[in-house]
Amino acid sequence: MEQPASGQGHDEALTRLAPTTPGRAILLESGRQALTLIARWCRTHHVGLAVLPSYHCDTMALPFWLEGMRVHFVEVGANLQFDPPALGTALDDADEPALVVWSRVGAIAPDTALTTVLRRAREGGHLVVDDATHAVLDDLLPDSLSTSPLPTSPMLTSPMPTTEAPAIRPLPACDFRVASLRKLVAVTDGALLWSREGITPDSPATRSGVDGELSAARSTLLTRSAALEARTPVPVSASMADLPAAPPRLADDYLAQLARSEELFDLATMPVPISHGARSQLDIFDLPRQARRRRRANRALTRELGDAPLEVLNAGRACFPLIGSAAAPAIEDALARHGIFSPQSWPRPAYLPDSLGWPTDVVSIDCGPTTSTEKVKQIAAIITAAL
Ligand SMILES: Cc1ncc(COP(=O)(O)O)c(C=O)c1O
Repeated sequence: MEQPASGQGHDEALTRLAPTTPGRAILLESGRQALTLIARWCRTHHVGLAVLPSYHCDTMALPFWLEGMRVHFVEVGANLQFDPPALGTALDDADEPALVVWSRVGAIAPDTALTTVLRRAREGGHLVVDDATHAVLDDLLPDSLSTSPLPTSPMLTSPMPTTEAPAIRPLPACDFRVASLRKLVAVTDGALLWSREGITPDSPATRSGVDGELSAARSTLLTRSAALEARTPVPVSASMADLPAAPPRLADDYLAQLARSEELFDLATMPVPISHGARSQLDIFDLPRQARRRRRANRALTRELGDAPLEVLNAGRACFPLIGSAAAPAIEDALARHGIFSPQSWPRPAYLPDSLGWPTDVVSIDCGPTTSTEKVKQIAAIITAAL
């Protein structure tokens, strides 16, 4: 891999998170800033159309609009990623090169059909972004998908369990990879932007006042989140009517700080390097270990849910569990009443064409590397009671 641009030094975390194919990797403050640099590159290279999955966070679409690109949304399948035939049709209909933003929601592996459509897209002159926000940790584990054959994978340099035989399947090749890091790792900010050899996005600007404010706000948020997590679990009552109507003070403080932090991310649109503090945290964290812990927590909740009439859509992935159930809104509400908030909460954007569906039966569960066994049981009980 080339040395990263913008004087960011070559560091361990960057090497781990970027594909092993030749290219350039940098760490920015946020995922939307990474997408902004991609959009700017597209604009100067006459790529005016971005193709996004209908199920997305609005922060994934906004950077393209702000940089003057058109955005076309394509239906998703049951695995929450592009529906392969719908993506194929959209690309057949495009009479210009498009940027396909493939989002690996829940770190769910793409099926063969999608892999084929993405490969054909690139062969047809389109560009592919791998949005690995939910998959960055899962990619570090041996039975995950990988961008390269096993012998050259950087993950071999890390201490890995030797009992499992790695079963690596290649990820579809991409032109860019982005990943907002704070969704799975307890950093104040941070996002990976990798671009393949031959593509050089603009360098980020210098960090300014809003960026410092953002780091400080997120730092407070992480403290409040830890306090909420450590709180003695509320006993699971047989009847939801017994539960307190208002969330406890700790939860209110957490939610207020979350709103403030997200507001600052919306304001900090200028692409800048990751904060010094978050970079240091990334250097210290043992990311493969965190990945294993996330995978363990996901498996533990899946096991606790046992025969409950629901589906864990990303069972065994190193990501927060995504549950498919008609009772998803009730589950989200029940957990929130206990101060347990969904890590991924995407409301249907008003701009999405009516012709496109939106999965209302999916809820993400805050169950991760620091969730105790007792709390996993409690979460499972709350979910089951809400069905
Ligand atoms: C899949 C995905 N990609 C990109 C982003 C944007 O990342 P950030 O919030 O760091 O700007 C998000 C944010 O929710 C996301 O969920």
